[in-house]
Amino acid sequence: MMFPHNFLWGGATAANQIEGAYRADGKGLSVQDVMPHGLRTPPTAEPTNDNLKREAIDFYHRYREDIDLFAEMGFKTFRLSFAWSRILPQGDETEPNAAGLEFYDRVIDYLLEKGIEPLVTLSHYETPLHLARHYGGWTNRELITFFERYARTVIEHFKGRVRYWLTFNEINSVLHFPFFSGIESTPEELGPQKLYQAIHHELVASARATKLAHEIDPANKVGCMILAVPRYPLTPDPQDALAAMAASHEDYTFGDVHVRGSYPGYFLRKLKELGVELEMTDADKEDLKHTVDYVSFSYYMSVCESANQEAGGEGNIIGGVPNPTLKASEWGWQIDPVGLRIILNDYWDRWQKPLFIVENGLGAKDKLINETVEDDYRIDYLNDHLVQVGEAIEDGVKVLGYTSWGPIDLVSASTAQMSKRYGFIYVDRNDDGSGSLKRYRKKSFDWYKQVIASNGASL
Ligand code: BG6
Repeated sequence: MMFPHNFLWGGATAANQIEGAYRADGKGLSVQDVMPHGLRTPPTAEPTNDNLKREAIDFYHRYREDIDLFAEMGFKTFRLSFAWSRILPQGDETEPNAAGLEFYDRVIDYLLEKGIEPLVTLSHYETPLHLARHYGGWTNRELITFFERYARTVIEHFKGRVRYWLTFNEINSVLHFPFFSGIESTPEELGPQKLYQAIHHELVASARATKLAHEIDPANKVGCMILAVPRYPLTPDPQDALAAMAASHEDYTFGDVHVRGSYPGYFLRKLKELGVELEMTDADKEDLKHTVDYVSFSYYMSVCESANQEAGGEGNIIGGVPNPTLKASEWGWQIDPVGLRIILNDYWDRWQKPLFIVENGLGAKDKLINETVEDDYRIDYLNDHLVQVGEAIEDGVKVLGYTSWGPIDLVSASTAQMSKRYGFIYVDRNDDGSGSLKRYRKKSFDWYKQVIASNGASL
């Protein structure tokens, strides 16, 4: 396998899933503080004690040890997110919380000291709770201003230290999980008018952050981040192919706007058919023209689509129906390494922008025996996917890098469990919150180290 010489190998995390210290040094609450069971139960009225994210893996205090381990694996980059509510505890303040910025100063400076390029997500499912409960989250246009203020604060503050930015994590996931965007209703309760207006607000906010990042420092590279799911027709029936196209369009909309700077025709038609009239100012249209430098995405699974409502059985959390040719993880996510090559080609053909795989991995239960985990299943999963990245590169796709999800075990987003582990590094913490938080190298730790050292030749 031939990977480019400057390929950015590394790992990816999110603040709420690793940091803990959920009220330390002036941090405000985020939507995650009322999601003790992830997406399994509705948000609670108040924060509860059973939320593992309160302490998470205590990266807040152990970041040096963790970054040392990443450096030992040879990471070229580390994807982290800034918790918006650490910088602006309520989200609508005009002055930042200095202690929040100081924490990220320490982390970023230590990464740079270790020669690791930071890749920062501005908003990773961490909308300040006040913005959710007081303003209705992204349904409210005012969030554009608040987000812009936050983005300006951190992009100016980290000028020259952080060059790679992502705006919203899996921006298309609002179609399925609105509470991550601070919207406390299901998509059905919300209705299309409010849902698409909220999406519009996020897209404008993303474009504004891109614009100001380029103004603050032309060396900044800003990407969008999409939850990527190849959607195959369940059968050769053209109606199934059409169903797959329609479902793919839902996701493409977000990339199309970020890359082309305006809404695609198929989307406008859909709005018309749904009777949705977007409130879109002339200034919004101008803002959207500030397009991204690269497209990043997460990839875990593919799904099938069918025009027949009865077909196929229940899909997974992002819709569709199961693919009868694929096996699934313990959490029902279907494993499809070839789908990664397909989506890389698809996105490249469509957008002709450099691509960055910023999440991929296998959530699995691990057994710590003799201070390590024999996680051959994880090695197989990652190896198979990386081989397909290599194939896509051979196909001519420009790929900037690959950051596996959760290089160190962390709290799951969908289930809020510790036992859904992705790491090369095991963290001693259990679903009931017990454990020493001690870190251990798994077998995959040495495997990934070798992959990076050989720049993919060992795959
Ligand atoms: C992505 C999210 O959807 O998938 C991450 O960006 C998340 O935050 C990851 O952790 C894996 O999902 P889960 O539910 O297994 O944690």
